[in-house]
Amino acid sequence: MLHIVEHPCIKAKLTILRDRGTPCPRFRRCVQEITGFIACEALRKLELEEFRVETPLAETAGWRLRDELVLVPILRAGMGMLDALLELAPEAKVGFIGLERDHAGKLPREYYCKLPEPGEHSLAVLIDPMLATGNSLAGAIELLKSNGFRRILVITILSAPEGKAVIESRYPEIEVYTGSLDERLDENKYIVPGLGDAGDRIFGTIAP
Ligand code: URA
Repeated sequence: MLHIVEHPCIKAKLTILRDRGTPCPRFRRCVQEITGFIACEALRKLELEEFRVETPLAETAGWRLRDELVLVPILRAGMGMLDALLELAPEAKVGFIGLERDHAGKLPREYYCKLPEPGEHSLAVLIDPMLATGNSLAGAIELLKSNGFRRILVITILSAPEGKAVIESRYPEIEVYTGSLDERLDENKYIVPGLGDAGDRIFGTIAP
């Protein structure tokens, strides 16, 4: 199921990302800021365990995450979101999935996969700024499942109705958190109105 995380700050920051004139350093920073907002909502249901903690004045109840987060950016654009999640959960493990678009067939091709062993309380958090066709995300979900991950959630910044439909029909159990559901995909499978190529804008690799 796709959840759109509504927040005035997300809306304002998304506008900065959409603006073609936003320079790369500001774009990158804004990706991290939006990711932090969306992640707070996405991680709301994390399980905690209680322990005793001593303040300078008294002993009291304390809490730590029981779930073990495994953050999995889909290379390369997902890397732009990773630091924001590590700020929230510094003890998280990190895996990597490399998928690239085959521009002819528009299908993703796996070129890298390095994942930690899943534990009893592992929750894999797939991160990719753009849910477009859903093909890359479905490929990444299959890789996580075949590596033993049973609990998976997804954080994206923008989503298209086409990708939403693919993920919801194939993986009804997986929750996807996003900042906006845009109008459609264009003939090159870019999200419209979107923000262009997220990886190029995060890493400054746009052709002059
Ligand atoms: N990936 C991007 O970077 N942008 C899109 O619009 C779709 C997929």
